[in-house]
Amino acid sequence: MGTTRKRLPGITLRDVTPADTGAVMRLLAHVNPDDPDAFEDVRPNLSLPQEGPLSHFRSLMIVAESGEGVILGVLIGGVPLWLFNHVGVEPVLAHHLAERVATITAVAVLPRQRGRGIGAELVRHSVRRFTRAGYGLLTLNCLPELESYYRGLGFSIMDDLNVSLGPLNPVQQQWGDTRVAARALDRYTSLVDVPGLSSPVVSGILPNTSLPRGTYFDGERLWP
Ligand SMILES: CC(C)(COP(=O)(O)OP(=O)(O)OC[C@H]1O[C@@H](n2cnc3c(N)ncnc32)[C@H](O)[C@@H]1OP(=O)(O)O)[C@@H](O)C(=O)NCCC(=O)NCCS
Repeated sequence: MGTTRKRLPGITLRDVTPADTGAVMRLLAHVNPDDPDAFEDVRPNLSLPQEGPLSHFRSLMIVAESGEGVILGVLIGGVPLWLFNHVGVEPVLAHHLAERVATITAVAVLPRQRGRGIGAELVRHSVRRFTRAGYGLLTLNCLPELESYYRGLGFSIMDDLNVSLGPLNPVQQQWGDTRVAARALDRYTSLVDVPGLSSPVVSGILPNTSLPRGTYFDGERLWP
């Protein structure tokens, strides 16, 4: 928590403080110009106290700041909401998964500052923070034009997110119009190609959830 880093010359990455609220909200309005208020629900969180294991408990909110104190970019991430809406994930399991699966909700860089590596550095920094906090999987919804960008940052791009939650018991999450980018963060977690399924399955995210070797899908269920 409270990490401050300088990897790009003259630019510091640090955790959000309440004083950043205006600049962060203006940046988030760039993410979806058709719906500039799409991230309005983030606003109250920006005033929360900083506490571990991420920057603000189970949320990670970081900014890239210039030497002059101008906020150039922001990354917001944390618990994937689908964990608590999915019919296949009961509440206790959802809470366990919320400590192992994270999502990046938004990355935005000031238009005139793009192409300098600020976005990539924010994503790399988030990978380190989520890994250090004990997460096994990082995901994000990926616009088609950014698929190669996220591949370059170590993510796999897939149509659906399949997660094994016990031997031969996967749950699947789909997003309407975008694909999902996913990256395993620790040695327990892997993305396994399963014959018969078009997207890989996340294996090992919790104890006893590793897919048996040779697992395949016959059109109805998984078999060992
Ligand atoms: C996506 C975004 C965060 C990238 O930030 P950035 O600081 O410019 O990214 P970097 O400098 O690390 O990387 C730039 C690379 O991303 C590519 N890129 C960025 N936005 C792109 C877009 N909309 N379409 C295609 N490529 C894009 C650039 O072509 C460049 O590629 P290169 O490294 O091969 O030259 C920034 O463009 C942005 O704020 N976009 C608006 C908000 C948004 O769409 N966010 C993503 C969804 S949450």
